[in-house]
Amino acid sequence: MPKTIKKVGVLTSGGDSPGMNAAIRSVVRTCAYHNIECIGIYRGYQGMIEGDFKEMGPRSVNNIVNKGGTILKSARSTEFRTPEGRKKAHENLVKAGIDALVVIGGDGTFTGGLLFNSEFDFPVMGIPGTIDNDIFGTSHTLGYDTALNTVVDVIDKIRDTASSHNRLFFVEVMGRDAGHIALNAGIGAGAEEILIPEEDLGLDRLLESLQKSKASGKSSSIVVIAEGDKIGKNVFELKDYVDANLPEYDVRVSVLGHMQRGGSPSCFDRVLASRLGVKAVESLIEGKSSYMVGLQNDKVTLTPLEQAIKGKTEIDRELLRVSDIMST
Ligand code: F6P
Repeated sequence: MPKTIKKVGVLTSGGDSPGMNAAIRSVVRTCAYHNIECIGIYRGYQGMIEGDFKEMGPRSVNNIVNKGGTILKSARSTEFRTPEGRKKAHENLVKAGIDALVVIGGDGTFTGGLLFNSEFDFPVMGIPGTIDNDIFGTSHTLGYDTALNTVVDVIDKIRDTASSHNRLFFVEVMGRDAGHIALNAGIGAGAEEILIPEEDLGLDRLLESLQKSKASGKSSSIVVIAEGDKIGKNVFELKDYVDANLPEYDVRVSVLGHMQRGGSPSCFDRVLASRLGVKAVESLIEGKSSYMVGLQNDKVTLTPLEQAIKGKTEIDRELLRVSDIMST
């Protein structure tokens, strides 16, 4: 017989992403729908250690479905990495009568949740929230679609000035370990070349490609670079290198940075957040624990947290070929 869940705690942790608020709203309202209490935990695991809790009802999540960021705030807690920190957090949950957790974040968030579950046999469900889309077990993480749209929108603007001045722009996008944003936004924005962590294009090929593009009559170009790319030079060094080797180019650099994590979530992210929140709470009610809810072939699925943490997401190599063909 699964333990009856009466009170669910919800938190957001790690880097924020658009759609986290819509997911909080979904968790809170699904709890209310099933007559379960819901407690918001502020600042992720750090708030759990400090007992920074607030009761949440369906009206406390009014007007947030469209808001970026997270109303519960986010933090990276070093104290939670210690057994003492986790013990304190557990005591606070017990004191507050919380008997299950929904944790929204990336693999660091899931690692914390899984450890907490194994130490205290505490039911935990994960919802993937990161713009990087680098979580195994879901085709989309919350915020990824919004970030793609943000990046494409900004590159469209950069293209206006690039083409007015016949310039080459290196645009750096987020993605410390994964090239999903760079690859998809790059194709969407019509980039000449896309550099990602999963594939080392090589400096020679980059120069060759830029030379070819100039020779084919293109007057301006956009190269999209994921921050974790493997070319061995940062985006400013890359500019210097091209300045030195291809003086016919007038190069500029634009690092998009944290603006990619903000903004109102896309419709896709809002719907995804709503679906994942319902599944997370209803799975806890069914007695399930230590899973991540995700999207696979447009169906909401459960993946063991351990797999979600350890599994590697692959980039779609066909997209590299598409990008090559598009830059002809
Ligand atoms: O959210 C993930 C991510 O966007 C990475 O791509 C990036 O490297 C990182 O966040 C930066 O986050 P912070 O500045 O919060 O450490």
